[in-house]
Amino acid sequence: MLAIIGGSGLNQFPELEIVSEKKITTPYGDCSAPLTIAKLKDRHLVFLPRHGHGHKLPPHQINYRANIWALKEIGVTRVLAVNAVGGIDSGMEPGMFVVPHQIIDYTYGREQSYNFLTDGYINHIDFTHPYSQSMRQQLIASLLAANLPFQKQGVYACTQGPRLETAAEVLRLQRDGCDLVGMTAMPEAALARELGLEYAALCLVVNWAAGLAGDELSIDEIMQTLAAGMADIKKTIFIFANQ
Ligand code: HPA
Repeated sequence: MLAIIGGSGLNQFPELEIVSEKKITTPYGDCSAPLTIAKLKDRHLVFLPRHGHGHKLPPHQINYRANIWALKEIGVTRVLAVNAVGGIDSGMEPGMFVVPHQIIDYTYGREQSYNFLTDGYINHIDFTHPYSQSMRQQLIASLLAANLPFQKQGVYACTQGPRLETAAEVLRLQRDGCDLVGMTAMPEAALARELGLEYAALCLVVNWAAGLAGDELSIDEIMQTLAAGMADIKKTIFIFANQ
């Protein structure tokens, strides 16, 4: 079963045919919202708004462990994450979609592991390729079918937030080889790997990262670009889920 983790702007998904809502409590606490089970043709999918209904949870306060645990518990095997991001590379202009292939984690103080022991040893997952290659290919095919502008790869810098970056921080991310910057890919992607879930991300660039265009960032403009991209995100999700 496929799960969609909605990011900023995708807190509700009224276009889904809802079957039920399940509030799941996990050993790690509550997830961001009850899981919405929806029907798509003859299949079910699960929708979970990462920031909760009404966007109550900032990126550093999301219970990523509970979210991924709950999805696993309900029978999810594949997770499609949606993230709003800032563009760093010149090809990542606002309005562009990106299917990232790599992550650099700049977060701190987040619960980032289930701390499993496997045969008495710490479970050091392989994370060479943080995103599922097959889901990425499927996403690329979906974006092509939806006729949307996209970059088929990119290095995602995950910052702590909730503030946006300084101009110097963005230059550092650029020197590090990052193409886009967001606040929510980690530890979500790693936790999914720990539980054996396939995981990929559909990112929408909603602004140039700090200092790369104009003087300061306008939150209003970010919100407008986000809202403008929502219909295309849903269209891509429907194509993806029906494949
Ligand atoms: N930085 C971090 N996270 C973001 C940004 C950004 O510029 N835009 C949207 N999410």
